[in-house]
Amino acid sequence: MHSLRPRPGTGPLGGPLVHLDLVGSTNDHARELALAGAPHGTVVAAERQTAGRGRQGRTWSAPAGRALTLSALVRLPAAAFEPLPLAVPIAVAEACEAVSPVKCRIKWPNDVWVEGLKVSGVLIEARPQDGWAVIGIGLNVDTALDELADDLRQTASSLRIASGAPVDREAALDELLARLAVWIARLGDPGRVVEAFRERDVLQGRRIAWSSGQVRQEGEARGIDDDGALVVFTDAGERVRLDAGEVHLVRPAGARG
Ligand code: BTN
Repeated sequence: MHSLRPRPGTGPLGGPLVHLDLVGSTNDHARELALAGAPHGTVVAAERQTAGRGRQGRTWSAPAGRALTLSALVRLPAAAFEPLPLAVPIAVAEACEAVSPVKCRIKWPNDVWVEGLKVSGVLIEARPQDGWAVIGIGLNVDTALDELADDLRQTASSLRIASGAPVDREAALDELLARLAVWIARLGDPGRVVEAFRERDVLQGRRIAWSSGQVRQEGEARGIDDDGALVVFTDAGERVRLDAGEVHLVRPAGARG
């Protein structure tokens, strides 16, 4: 396994890169650093996580040496927290496209997809009252198909699988941190963030399903509003705003993307 090369000094986000071989969850480690007073832009990257966490209580797993699993600590003004979940997948998408010949789209709220399959997930754990957030990113960079867990092969992919060629993990890390720095600097202009998200919105005009309590609902996604909530029209013509949670694309039989 090749570990990422050390990057001494401060990175594009303005803080140090803490590189670990093994950790429970980079998000948990970054949160501990935040509570201990670590500076804005501190990044924790790990080769292996024993307790990698995803959204909605899921786990996150990735083969060592093939993916990027990292968390960035950001200290932000109050107004920056709302656009943050939209800005992060834009940065991830741009980084992917810079290192690999793929076209990325975003599945609300912050998955990054290539050709209908997920290549990256984002888990943001924010403490707006204390002025910080941990941005956790898992990005399948150079993972081969036989390295993906069996249960993920229908829904997940990597830049390598999607492009059919090896992808340099070092370059992906550098691009990811650089694009994150760019989009974090743009959080003061939420209109621009929303516009860039809409350009990549994979759900726009598509039939989706979600759960409201115990009830499964379906409708047509009509894009995000200016606050980043997903707007859906149900079959009964009701306009629904989803501001958190999970939605699923209802795919016509045999379709992808
Ligand atoms: C999701 O799609 O459910 C979000 C996945 C987020 C995974 C990353 S890997 C680095 C960071 N540390 C974690 O424990 N989770 C995030």
